[in-house]
Amino acid sequence: MMKIEDVLELVRPNIKQLTPYSSARDEYKGEVGIFLDANENSFGSPIDPCVNRYPDPLQTQVKKKLASIKNIYPDQIFLGNGSDESIDVLLRTFCKPGQDEVIILPPTYGMYEVAAKIHELQVKKILLDDTFQPDVTEILNQFNSNTRMIFFCSPNNPTGNLMDYDRIKIVLEKFKGIVVVDEAYIDYAKSSSWIQELKNYPHLVVLQTFSKAWGLAGIRAGMAFAHPQIITILNKVKMPYNVSSITQKYLLEAMNNQAFVEFAIQQTIQEKTHLIQRLQQFKSVKTIYPSDANFLLVKMNQADEVYQQLIEKKIIIRNRSRVEKCNNCLRITIGKPHENKALLEALSQIIN
Ligand SMILES: Cc1ncc(COP(=O)(O)O)c(C=O)c1O
Repeated sequence: MMKIEDVLELVRPNIKQLTPYSSARDEYKGEVGIFLDANENSFGSPIDPCVNRYPDPLQTQVKKKLASIKNIYPDQIFLGNGSDESIDVLLRTFCKPGQDEVIILPPTYGMYEVAAKIHELQVKKILLDDTFQPDVTEILNQFNSNTRMIFFCSPNNPTGNLMDYDRIKIVLEKFKGIVVVDEAYIDYAKSSSWIQELKNYPHLVVLQTFSKAWGLAGIRAGMAFAHPQIITILNKVKMPYNVSSITQKYLLEAMNNQAFVEFAIQQTIQEKTHLIQRLQQFKSVKTIYPSDANFLLVKMNQADEVYQQLIEKKIIIRNRSRVEKCNNCLRITIGKPHENKALLEALSQIIN
């Protein structure tokens, strides 16, 4: 069983020793006063009157509200400029450039590899099996003393399936680095979150995002959930004002309107069922992979050509044909009813 002290040992020595940047807003946390500490424009801003001030660096109000929604404590939450920032900050915190290694499980979300390569890390790829589940035997065989992090994505992008609970659990039991479970699409899934396992595994980090079911991709906000001592270190490493005040304001508003999110999730799932039924009727469609997300991975004849012809009709989907294990596969985001209808009509003009 891993202890938090063991996890803290994984932090890069330079980060352990780092005295983080102390911002003006870190030093005085009150909301009332005459603020002459941060060289802001005291006369206001040409747009929203509140944006002349720097935002709360630790997003206190947002975390308080989010903690109540997720049933955890605010100090278990890191907020970033999208999950992409959380991924980047995790790598910067735990992985030594030019030396350490991360394991990714393709086909999966592309940023794990890109972010790792930006940090000059070795990227070990262990392909998912034919049911798009992690090959635990290979993972256990292949990690070594330089392996700092493993990325699971559940539900997985681009395949759409949840990763088997027990398989991730085995890795959590045996691997003594950081285990990241990216749950960007969890709100669409028939499964509970790995957040509930944080109390058992101090080396587990769960990622979620406001970009998908919450409908807030444009304001850039991602969540990482982990042991409070890990969160403290991530906060040391991040840019001081990484979540803008506009974003924080919108997040609070959004969290007060969860009914919309629930509605959109239900609509998406309903449309997904409908789209699956209709896609199955095309002879060219070979496999529609089971999806717990808001998209479908579809294997079909001549996927490249179908993709191109859809673009000519101004319908843009994602061609995943050249991704490992996704030969001839297209990834289709579930749209609104009229968008899905337009897609199906266009397909009926292109394929049988
Ligand atoms: C699995 C997964 N993780 C993370 C992200 C990025 O999310 P964000 O918009 O929060 O950076 C995506 C976006 O497509 C994704 O598919």
